[in-house]
Amino acid sequence: MTKTSSFTAPKGVPDYVPPGSAEFVAVRDGLIRAATLAGYGHVELPIFEETALFARGVGESTDVVSKEMWTFADRNGQSYTLRPEGTAGVMRAIIQHGLDKSAQLPIKVVYAGPFFRYENPQAGRYRQLQQVGVEAVGVDDAALDAEVIAIADAGYRALGLTDFRLEITSLGDDTCRPRYRELLTEFLERLPLDEATSRRAEINPLRVLDDKRPEVKAMTADAPLMIDHLSESAKAHFEQVLRHLDALGVPYVVNPRMVRGLDYYTKTTFEFVHDGLGAQSGIGGGGRYDGLMAQLGGAPLSGIGFGLGVDRTVLALRAEGKPAGDPSSCAVFGVPLGEAAKQRLVVLAARLRAAGIRVDLAYGDRSIKSAMKVADRCGARFALVLGDRDLAENTIGVKDMGTGDQWQIGLDEVVAVLSAELAT
Ligand code: HAM
Repeated sequence: MTKTSSFTAPKGVPDYVPPGSAEFVAVRDGLIRAATLAGYGHVELPIFEETALFARGVGESTDVVSKEMWTFADRNGQSYTLRPEGTAGVMRAIIQHGLDKSAQLPIKVVYAGPFFRYENPQAGRYRQLQQVGVEAVGVDDAALDAEVIAIADAGYRALGLTDFRLEITSLGDDTCRPRYRELLTEFLERLPLDEATSRRAEINPLRVLDDKRPEVKAMTADAPLMIDHLSESAKAHFEQVLRHLDALGVPYVVNPRMVRGLDYYTKTTFEFVHDGLGAQSGIGGGGRYDGLMAQLGGAPLSGIGFGLGVDRTVLALRAEGKPAGDPSSCAVFGVPLGEAAKQRLVVLAARLRAAGIRVDLAYGDRSIKSAMKVADRCGARFALVLGDRDLAENTIGVKDMGTGDQWQIGLDEVVAVLSAELAT
């Protein structure tokens, strides 16, 4: 008796399968490419790290740490957490490998992969999410902030995305943030906040400005804003970043109420927002985190980076009706008519692949009609049809799947002819 599988992917975890997975790959690779064009080197880091790294790095008051971590103990009772984000792990690796001491600054890295947050799943909000991220560590230069932002902007645009906006603000630095925190705390203490919110405000008062509940939003409408209390140097830095963005032609809107979901941010902070996605409109975000390296035990180096949501960028492209990636699985599809033809086509396919041409074959003794259907479904531009008579004459039939034209060529010409045809 056959049993149907009742297994499904874990709740809130998307699968990407062909042909739709081509969009995912195009988005991920397109965003990575935007970073490698600017000199970012690839890092491949663990999917899980010691829990304390995220508690200390990302911040205890954040939802990410307080509610959303996938935490487990190993067999020795050591607590580990599936990475909820990439920045803390990159800092850990930079410190561990001594890059903060030896490398030329800034250290510029790019990463891509899955991250894990125990969220309430909904469209565009997943428990396993995919990001492409960059981090540039060790130089506090407004031009570097602008570079990081421009990479994200260029990455999205290269994919064809247009209906998004960049929101940007400054969260201040060591010299102005403590005073602003006091001001905000004084303001919040006068409000009738519930107990849980007051507790959050004690750990990080900025978090309350991020509260999505309408009653809390209304109460905090007149809250003091960081941007009005920046130190001279933080203000100058922010103005320089905006000037660079103007020069680069990267459009932005200043949003002084922006609060990011992670605690490490200082100075420049930004989010890319897409209006075609409903509630989960953030397609990417990032900012400076000048105290993070030191907080994790490294050299006191500044840093800036971003995380771009690959899943949400795929959804945003779909919302704009922009196809991304090539869903075809091959350019050439071989159809053997008989055993001898199959043997020959298998070898021919290998030769074509060695020449860089994507080739698939009809397996399992299909009729020519059903094989042609498969050729069509996998998006092939040409079908190669080989029968016993062709073999005897040392020729092969070529069919242009677009026009329906068919012609015979010599078997030893196939690689040259198809290379030339596919180059056009
Ligand atoms: P983040 O804003 O938490 O930043 O995440 C970056 C992006 O990941 C979001 O803008 C969103 O597109 C995507 N994302 C986050 N959570 C989910 C989810 N549950 N489902 C689908 N997509 C999601 C960071 O993670 C920082 N590490 C970015 C950074 C790097 N800042 C400085 N360097």
